[in-house]
Amino acid sequence: MTRAILVRAHGGPEVLTLETVAVGAPGPGEIRVKNHAIGINFVDTYQRSGLYPVPLPFVAGNEGMGTITALGPEVTGFHLGQRVAYQGPVGAYADERLLPAARVVPVPDSIADETAAAALLKGTTAWYLLHETHRIKPGDTVLIHAAAGGTGHLLVQWAKALGARVIGTAGGPEKVALGRAAGADLMIDYRAGGFVDAVRAATNGRGVDVVYDGVGQSTFEGSLDCLRPRGLMVSFGNASGPVSIPRLMVLAEKGSLYLTRPTSAAYLGTPEALRTAAAALFAAIASGTLSVPIGHRYPLEAAAEAHRGLEARETTGAGVLLV
Ligand SMILES: NC(=O)c1ccc[n+]([C@@H]2O[C@H](COP(=O)([O-])OP(=O)(O)OC[C@H]3O[C@@H](n4cnc5c(N)ncnc54)[C@H](OP(=O)(O)O)[C@@H]3O)[C@@H](O)[C@H]2O)c1
Repeated sequence: MTRAILVRAHGGPEVLTLETVAVGAPGPGEIRVKNHAIGINFVDTYQRSGLYPVPLPFVAGNEGMGTITALGPEVTGFHLGQRVAYQGPVGAYADERLLPAARVVPVPDSIADETAAAALLKGTTAWYLLHETHRIKPGDTVLIHAAAGGTGHLLVQWAKALGARVIGTAGGPEKVALGRAAGADLMIDYRAGGFVDAVRAATNGRGVDVVYDGVGQSTFEGSLDCLRPRGLMVSFGNASGPVSIPRLMVLAEKGSLYLTRPTSAAYLGTPEALRTAAAALFAAIASGTLSVPIGHRYPLEAAAEAHRGLEARETTGAGVLLV
């Protein structure tokens, strides 16, 4: 038996309840992992609220790090006691869990437990957004929203390391300072006012090459207005609410823009793709290219408090649950 945070009905943070559940033995292709730390991600809140459908009941959470306690039949390339991290499927908010070996990667000795738990999902997302959704080149100018958040903070650092000029947005002076410290050339406090005029001014009216927008509803229209003709809008999340597809002609009117809504499933859905992205992430952390500040630590049983803080825009960097 193990402690786990269950969602039995969709709703606010209060639906997250601590229960005791059976873990069982791993089936074919499965691994059992004893968690050391669990990454907190905005997607966890979408699944809890029902915005992203997951059959009820389910154990919340999509990312974690721990050691292997059992290997199912047909699992190769892993051993008992090995330090590993994983992203997806749901079930991370628990002391111990089962999951497909295909979603698990080894953690190098140089990467601390909490760092691996906090960084794998957000960091591999940053990797594919900057290397595959659009391949950043030196001289690109990019706009990154929520630049002090878990994913945004990694995007800023990595985009800078790849040679981009980075404009970031964040809510409030403390977050603006964090974005600057991460390397952003210009930070805009979009809680104090709009961001479009400031981006236009900073690019001499041209607009940016790419917008990375994980905020969604409240920034989507403005983000389109920040792009240069034929620029790329990467709408990769909906922290402020889901985006409705605009009239297709909007893209024409604003300069023959490109629009994409990427997902980890489409980019990192195979074990090979996940391993490639994870290896690049861990190498970037080990070399100092990326730092992963852990802004918030909670015990497993305080998962609801963690969700409240995340949804209230009170957090910076990445958060972890500790078991
Ligand atoms: N597509 C993918 O593959 C993928 C993978 C990972 C993450 N994501 C997306 O990336 C985004 C960031 O995820 P994360 O886990 O790293 O979260 P996070 O950035 O640490 O937290 C979300 C941030 O969004 C900003 N925000 C703006 N308006 C908000 C509102 N109304 N409510 C809540 N937050 C608001 C807040 O920063 P400010 O206060 O600075 O505005 C907040 O801190 C999410 O949309 C997530 O779904 C997508």
